[in-house]
Amino acid sequence: MLNTTVWNRIRYTVYAPIYDMLANRAFRKPRRVALGHVDWEPGMRVLLVGAGTGLDLPFIPRELEIHLTDITPAMVKRASERAEKHQRDVVCRVMDAASLDYPDEHFDVVVMHLILAVMPCPAQGLSEAHRVLKPGGQLSVMDKFQPDTQPAGIGRRALNVLTSFIATDITRQVTPLLQQAGFHIRHDEPVLMNGLFRALLAAK
Ligand SMILES: C[S@@+](CC[C@H](N)C(=O)[O-])C[C@H]1O[C@@H](n2cnc3c(N)ncnc32)[C@H](O)[C@@H]1O
Repeated sequence: MLNTTVWNRIRYTVYAPIYDMLANRAFRKPRRVALGHVDWEPGMRVLLVGAGTGLDLPFIPRELEIHLTDITPAMVKRASERAEKHQRDVVCRVMDAASLDYPDEHFDVVVMHLILAVMPCPAQGLSEAHRVLKPGGQLSVMDKFQPDTQPAGIGRRALNVLTSFIATDITRQVTPLLQQAGFHIRHDEPVLMNGLFRALLAAK
């Protein structure tokens, strides 16, 4: 298995200094679209999972309690610096999405952007997101997915050996993953590269 949590931590430590250069501009619109579908209310408690350098922060309203987590210390350090620079009060912690150190039903909103296609077991990440969300809580997902209508073909699965090693899985289907975790999909929109990237809003 080429995609492991240990490997993710190693490669994102290497990518950390150049991550913003690669992912800031390209994903601005997808982030704005995804987070624009959330019904924000003042005072909400929000969890960012696998948050990287915190590029979602500018698209999240200010008057909220924000917790930001990621498995890679180098990414969390940059996210913390970004929060400080933007004068945002954010709790930043190193944490595995597969085992969240938060109580059940603690958050109003969970954000999982560009993480479900990266972590080795997305079902476990979604199960944890579901656990920490309050009933009726909202989950924002933005990532690249295989269309739900057909499983990945042999060419895509072959290419996936390479992409999942250097960056990301390209064979995952998001609708069954969300439904099996107990979520109801409220919104599903293509946001980049002819629908390879989608923004979804789901509810617990
Ligand atoms: C493609 S980046 C996305 C970062 C950010 N969400 C964004 O939208 O820019 C993937 C991130 O997932 C983190 N990651 C990978 N596996 C993880 C895990 N098991 N738990 C938490 N974070 C993880 C990596 O450290 C990296 O920061």
